[in-house]
Amino acid sequence: MALPTAVKIVEVGPRDGLQNEKEFVPTATKIELINRLSAAGFPNIEAASFVSPKWVPQMADGAEVMAAIERRSGAIYSVLTPNLRGFEGALAARADEIVIFGAASEAFSQKNINCSIAESIERFAPVAQAAKDHGVRIRGSVSCALGCPYQGEVPVASVVDVVERFAALGCDEIDIADTIGVGTARRVHEVFEAVTKVFPRERLSGHFHDTYGQALANIYAALEEGIAIFHASVAGLGGCPYAKGATGNVATEDVLYLMNGLGIHTGIDLNQVVAAGAFISTAIGRVNVSRAGKALLAKARSEAACS
Ligand code: HMG
Ligand code: MG
Repeated sequence: MALPTAVKIVEVGPRDGLQNEKEFVPTATKIELINRLSAAGFPNIEAASFVSPKWVPQMADGAEVMAAIERRSGAIYSVLTPNLRGFEGALAARADEIVIFGAASEAFSQKNINCSIAESIERFAPVAQAAKDHGVRIRGSVSCALGCPYQGEVPVASVVDVVERFAALGCDEIDIADTIGVGTARRVHEVFEAVTKVFPRERLSGHFHDTYGQALANIYAALEEGIAIFHASVAGLGGCPYAKGATGNVATEDVLYLMNGLGIHTGIDLNQVVAAGAFISTAIGRVNVSRAGKALLAKARSEAACS
């Protein structure tokens, strides 16, 4: 299949990236990060979670963050909502899209949201209905689609099953998430070949963590399957609080460098994303793990030294 000519890159750093930071990231820093990312041109930013602060304390200031960010016209600001209480928060915060998050693995579902897959779908049903009633977009995220930290192998049929359940809830978009970054390209082909039979290809996304350094290869494999929505985290921020040892999502700068090289349109300014990556890494005292980001920063420094 020919590669897409344009892709939507969803920046998930402010949520997936920061949720795992041990030290509370000041609300003002979160806001400045999102504002910088908005200015860089992202069509969609995952900005916050409306989850239990007992489970993920780092995301406790979602309402303040959403109230203060400068929204770029036309951009979608998404938030995670595990239940109706989360949805009410999202609605009050004027979120453009809510994300319900389930798993293709029973064990991970229990660890992450404290219920079985079937119970999670029951819990999401009124959330999805409420979103429909209020005209809010719904995205479903399928964790552990390429492997689980607790159960190991996850059958493709389990991924298809959750995708079908999310489709029945009326999801506008569904994420195939490699929560712990264990997947490799062949498996990515198999999973997307299977899920595109039950949900439209153009509304599926790839959400790849980069623990084993496979994320860019997995993105390329997904592009070959005609997938045109990818999630990425500036500076490679992140990890999942309920997936020990997993690193962040693939770094946004690396994905943009790949797309630019392939001539695939993103509408995002790589240099501004590199600057945002440098900003947040310094602000929270974390090593920037974007290879392209670090290379471009080094190049800019050496050019400045020579001029
Ligand atoms: P629970 O303990 O079973 O439920 O948690 P509960 O109803 O007993 O609630 C516990 C406490 O939280 C109660 O407070 C509730 O009021 C409160 P208490 O009465 O003890 O004082 N509470 C809330 N507070 C604020 N907002 C809410 C909310 N709901 C309950 N919405 C629950 C069940 C689902 C709430 C919990 O397990 C939870 O919040 N889990 C979220 C976990 C999470 O955010 N994980 C990370 C995101 S998923 C991810 O990163 C994967 C992804 O990136 C894709 C991938 O890579 O795989 C998306
Ligand atoms: Mg994730």
